[in-house]
Amino acid sequence: MFTEETIKKIQHLKTPYYYYDMALLQKTLNAITTESVKYGYHIHYAFKANANANIIQAIHKAGFGADCVSGNEVKCAVENGFDTSNIVFAGVGKSDDEINYALDKTIFCFNCESIQELEVINELATAKDKIASIALRINPNVDAHTHKYITTGLEENKFGINPYEFDAVIEKLKSLPNLKLIGLHFHIGSQITDLSPFKQLCLKVNKINAYFLSKEYDLPIINVGGGVGINYQEPDNEAVIDFAAYFKVFHDFMELRKNQQLHFELGRAVVAQCGSLISKVLYIKNGINTNFAILDAGMTELIRPALYQAYHKIENISSISPTLIKYDVVGPICESSDCFGKAVELPITQRGDFIAIRSAGAYGEVMASRYNLRDEVRSYCSDEL
Ligand code: LLP
Repeated sequence: MFTEETIKKIQHLKTPYYYYDMALLQKTLNAITTESVKYGYHIHYAFKANANANIIQAIHKAGFGADCVSGNEVKCAVENGFDTSNIVFAGVGKSDDEINYALDKTIFCFNCESIQELEVINELATAKDKIASIALRINPNVDAHTHKYITTGLEENKFGINPYEFDAVIEKLKSLPNLKLIGLHFHIGSQITDLSPFKQLCLKVNKINAYFLSKEYDLPIINVGGGVGINYQEPDNEAVIDFAAYFKVFHDFMELRKNQQLHFELGRAVVAQCGSLISKVLYIKNGINTNFAILDAGMTELIRPALYQAYHKIENISSISPTLIKYDVVGPICESSDCFGKAVELPITQRGDFIAIRSAGAYGEVMASRYNLRDEVRSYCSDEL
């Protein structure tokens, strides 16, 4: 929510930029901590959602671990003071350099996605005379009912090891002495707003967990990834999601043994609502059927609408006009897909008005590009203004 006081503070800043409400981030972190400690769950923050330095620092202070998907994310976590014993590293295509770096740092766990990857990590660990702790990323074939580009837990997706490969993996591990299998890892997709896929996940995990025990792998770590969704339609109604309900699903349906810890990798639900992309209207073009509001921000700053047809609430935070008109809100990039929203109802909008594109804290700034040789996008946090 943009109060007059906030607007006063930010209106002199050169647009476009990301604005982060650090008080809301803190409130979200507190809610996650309160609801997860009830069950002794371990939370890793998925760096891929937002790696802004101030945000990372706040999350580190909250005591979260780190979930990384590249060597540079591991490096970013290390440089920001995350304990290496709290860093997990996933990804279907880890390069040798990335694996070597993570081995040197003795991270908590590699989440491994294929048999060949197991062989390579074993070989690189052997060369360093190290034992790498690993978890198997398993594809549980659970439909997350989310956009096809962000569903990951189906057999047709490139992620994880499929159940029909378990016996081959178990056999393979016997010949890889520099790997220590410590856990099972899952992630079924992102922006999951109905909790029932998580219940399905728990039921699948129970079976897989029992299967590995039957093969004499009593694994201490179960990691269920992230994926819980947020309210893009009405960001102010539910600025902090119902983490109590989310964690309770796992408490109710996951059968953990006494020695087993449950780990999560939350990204979007931590940072999405605290961020907005702030932009200025450059031009208004009134057509016969369509009025265009042309912004100084485009798909280069926030690609989600163009890439996933994602909805972000768009607000004119400076107009005081009581009359509402529909606009296609577009960016300046030379692509027709550079559109933030069609037929968006806004108060009469003029050149120079401020537009806030809401719920942009996750997968916004990190996915920005310099296409069209645009400037790198700026960002400001509420506590530094
Ligand atoms: N763990 C793994 C293994 C993941 O692949 C992801 C996200 C997460 C955790 C964190 O998921 P979250 O809690 O944020 O849903 N760029 C897309 C989202 C891609 C998600 C990729 N993986 C978007 O803008 O919607």
